[in-house]
Amino acid sequence: MKTPVRVAVTGAAGQIGYALLFRIAAGDMLGPDQPVILHLLEITPALPALQGVVMELNDCAFPTLAGVVATDDVNVAFKDVDYALLVGARPRGPGMERKDLLEANGAIFAPQGKALNDHAKRDVKVLVVGNPANTNALIAQQNAPDLDPNCFTAMVRLDHNRALSQLAEKTGAHTTDIKRMTIWGNHSSTQYPDIHHATIKGRPAIDAVDGAWYKDTFIPTVQQRGAAIIKARGASSAASAASAAIDHMRDWARGTADGDWVSMGIPSDGSYGIRPGVIYGYPVTIKDGRFTIVQGLEIGTFSRERMDATDKELREERAGVEHLFAQR
Ligand code: NAI
Repeated sequence: MKTPVRVAVTGAAGQIGYALLFRIAAGDMLGPDQPVILHLLEITPALPALQGVVMELNDCAFPTLAGVVATDDVNVAFKDVDYALLVGARPRGPGMERKDLLEANGAIFAPQGKALNDHAKRDVKVLVVGNPANTNALIAQQNAPDLDPNCFTAMVRLDHNRALSQLAEKTGAHTTDIKRMTIWGNHSSTQYPDIHHATIKGRPAIDAVDGAWYKDTFIPTVQQRGAAIIKARGASSAASAASAAIDHMRDWARGTADGDWVSMGIPSDGSYGIRPGVIYGYPVTIKDGRFTIVQGLEIGTFSRERMDATDKELREERAGVEHLFAQR
């Protein structure tokens, strides 16, 4: 067994938390030879519920669980952490304006960014799941001036996995037959699931489906999947979101497979005409804990329009939270 690493999870008593913690503790994220110490953050009123979750974690007697810290103090939660999964966020309430939502989340993610800046390991890997995920990640990043901006990522992996599943179902393939799926942009209904570079059993995916299905069924189904789950289940996706968070962190820590890539919300660097300043979904390969944007993909007019539309939305979100950024 290796030396334990510290993994922070916020919103740990929530529904994603309940689907996520047991898998992290069981070794699904970092491997069966990597013990973890969980740092669980909740708001004060949720601490009793969190204690119940801690009791259950202990009752699993996981070989890879080396300890649990449960707290409502962000500075304790992020002390010396190697990984941080920021799940807890303020959901959009009835009649809540977008501006109020961004403001409420700023009040969560600005202090969390600062606490990561002050207490986390210098190479901490941060994944923001709580919505609006990309912009919450930007707020946290902008409040952590001493950390590498690339420590901060947002989750578009659930969208990536949903796209794999829809394409597999349509073509009769298994999800593992599909490589090089891409989600560009925001984790929102403007995201652009792109199959132009994807392959199914080594052949171009775009040739396996008709254009009308891709445009009129596939893209909207992936974009609207979250809403469809809420309608069916009466609650938002939790187990699939937790599973995608595990996939994101596992691949970031342990690397992508040869010949394939994954989608991650990461700081834009000008690649594909997306100016720096937003956290944008890109295709990436990962080696030794570092992600690299896949370069040289051909972008047609259809893709360009959609990539720019989701970028525009992210820049509007950014404009609404810029006053929350710390001075660099
Ligand atoms: P939930 O409401 O069941 O749990 C959220 C938990 O966060 C609650 O226990 C709450 O007490 C806690 N919390 C709130 N503020 C906090 C703070 N400042 N510090 C620590 N904990 C705090 O919600 P659920 O279903 O677990 O979802 C969490 C978030 O994930 C939501 O914002 C949701 O929209 C988002 N989400 C993102 C997805 C993605 O693909 N990026 C997919 C599905 C959900």
